[in-house]
Parts: sequence; structure tokens; C-alpha cells
Amino acid sequence: MVKILITGANGQLGRELQKQYKGKDVELIPTDVKDLDITDVKAVNKFVTEHKPDVIINCAAHTQVDKCEEQIDLAYKINAIGPKNLASAAYNIEAEIVQVSTDYVFNGEGNTELTEFDTPDPQTVYGRTKLDGENFVKTLNPKHYIVRTAWLYGDGNNFVKTMIKLSENHSELKVVDDQVGTPTSTVDLAKVIIKLLDDKNYGLFHCTCKGVCTWYDFAKEIFRLKNIDVNVIPCTTEEFPRPAKRPKYSVLRNYMLELTTGDITKQWQESLKDYIEDLHM
Ligand SMILES: NC(=O)c1ccc[n+]([C@@H]2O[C@H](COP(=O)([O-])OP(=O)(O)OC[C@H]3O[C@@H](n4cnc5c(N)ncnc54)[C@H](OP(=O)(O)O)[C@@H]3O)[C@@H](O)[C@H]2O)c1
Repeated sequence: MVKILITGANGQLGRELQKQYKGKDVELIPTDVKDLDITDVKAVNKFVTEHKPDVIINCAAHTQVDKCEEQIDLAYKINAIGPKNLASAAYNIEAEIVQVSTDYVFNGEGNTELTEFDTPDPQTVYGRTKLDGENFVKTLNPKHYIVRTAWLYGDGNNFVKTMIKLSENHSELKVVDDQVGTPTSTVDLAKVIIKLLDDKNYGLFHCTCKGVCTWYDFAKEIFRLKNIDVNVIPCTTEEFPRPAKRPKYSVLRNYMLELTTGDITKQWQESLKDYIEDLHM
């Protein structure tokens, strides 16, 4: 039976992977920071040597993009050193590693879809540290799957829940309409990760749902699906200055999936509909 260590298991993706693996012929070892702090090299080596997983899926990350701009050391520790520790511990026992990454590795200044063959150029601490994490994993363990995603929502804090909560005490909401990307459900992402592992399809992959929209379009669709009557007003990035620069156009094309085992992700509106139907807040 395949033994899978999940780090950051209490996060959005970690929870979804546990759900999808339930009932399957695998032994899961779900851990979060209190069980296994991925930044602690000794703890990681000890845990991995003792438990001997066949696969490590690293779902742990410092995902608060704005906070990363101030918490630079912490961002490097969690997003770069953590994956380094896991990749090398996995290598020592010949295990595979899945590292999850982000559209923020690109500068987002173009206007065409970005494939795995495009050159990263991160503009934020979060993006830089996540790219360093990718590079450590690539260098330290040939049996790697690096999966970049974007605009992720699932069981945890995310844009969908924030919008719904805000609508409870606002009749009007301003939402940015000049950043383009693809909302992606953890359901689609977890399915792709499981398929990559089943197929032993190593390498770098983009994985978002299909289609594109702005945050404004995303918000409008959330309220339409939830039947919430709120006036959504489009605004510009300049009207909402944030510590971390946001990419203007960070549409990832799942090109490597298309060229290899096939792209099983859904259109973003379809996955959002499924998510909202199941959502209990
Ligand atoms: N969320 C997005 O929009 C988005 C977009 C693109 C890519 N991604 C990437 O997708 C992956 C999954 O994201 P997500 O949204 O599921 O993240 P998440 O919900 O923020 O979960 C991350 C988990 O990692 C844990 N963690 C933090 N530091 C740790 C440490 N030192 N050791 C072990 N665990 C630690 C967190 O615990 P605490 O909560 O206790 O800190 C949390 O449970 C990440 O690699 C992220 O960079 C996310």
C-alpha cells in the first residue's frame, strides 16, 4: 500500500487531498505545523526516516502574500527552506515529492497565457520564495512533481467566503476589474495531483481550472450562484493599494497536462457552482 505524507494538511488543499484519498488503497500521514514543522531540517529528516513514506505532498506554505513582504525570513523558511528539507529527506529514502507552487512566479505583465516553458520573473517576496522552493525541489530530488496553481479556493479562508461574508453587511462592494486570472477549486487541483502520481508523470505542471476572468467577474458569479443581491462595482488596482504587487495577467495554460496525460480540470464557473452548492459557512 502506498504511504503518503501530507504536510500542511489542515490547509485548503491538504484537506481536499485527504477527502479524495478517503476509501482509496493508500496510507495517509496527514501533518500540520504542530506535528511536523517543515522548516526544521532535523525534525523533517527524523520524521521522514521514521515513517518512510513513498510520497510527500507538500501543501504547507506561507500563503499570505501581503504579510510575506514584511515577514521575509519566515517566507523564505516556509516557502523555500521547507520544500528543500522535504525534497532532500524524500531523496534519501527514494521517495517522490509533490511541491505546489503559484502563478506569482511570473511577473503578470504580458497578455497571453503562460505555459511551463515561459520564464518566471517573480515580483513579490511570496513569488520569489515559491520559485526558490521549486528550484530546491527540482535540484534535490529528480522524482518530483511541481504543480503551479492560482486563485485557489476550498475548505479554508478564500475569496469566495470573503465575498459572501462581506455581502452580509454591505449592499455595495468594489472589486478589482483589471487583474485577470483563473479561479481554481482545490477539487480540480487535488484530482490532477492524484492523477500525476498515479501516472508517475514527473516534472513541472500548470494546473488551474479552464477559462479566465477578473476578480470582479469572479465576485459577480459568486453572488449570482448564491442568489445574493449586492451591487458589485468594478474598480482598478490603484484604488486598492496592497503591500505586494499583484500580477495584471496571470493566466496559466495547463500545457504540460494537455501534452501528456490530458487536462481533467473543469471550466471555472462549473467548479465554482459545485463548490457553492456544497458550501456551509
Ligand atoms: N491560496 C491560493 O490562492 C493559492 C494560489 C496559488 C498557489 N497556492 C499554493 O497552493 C498550496 C496550497 O495552498 P492553500 O491555499 O491550501 O494553503 P493554506 O490554506 O494557507 O494552508 C497552508 C497550510 O500550511 C501550514 N503551515 C504553515 N507553515 C508551516 C510549517 N512551517 N510547517 C508545516 N505546515 C505549515 C498552515 O498552517 P497555519 O495555518 O497554522 O499557518 C496551513 O495549514 C500552497 O503551496 C500555496 O502556495 C495557493
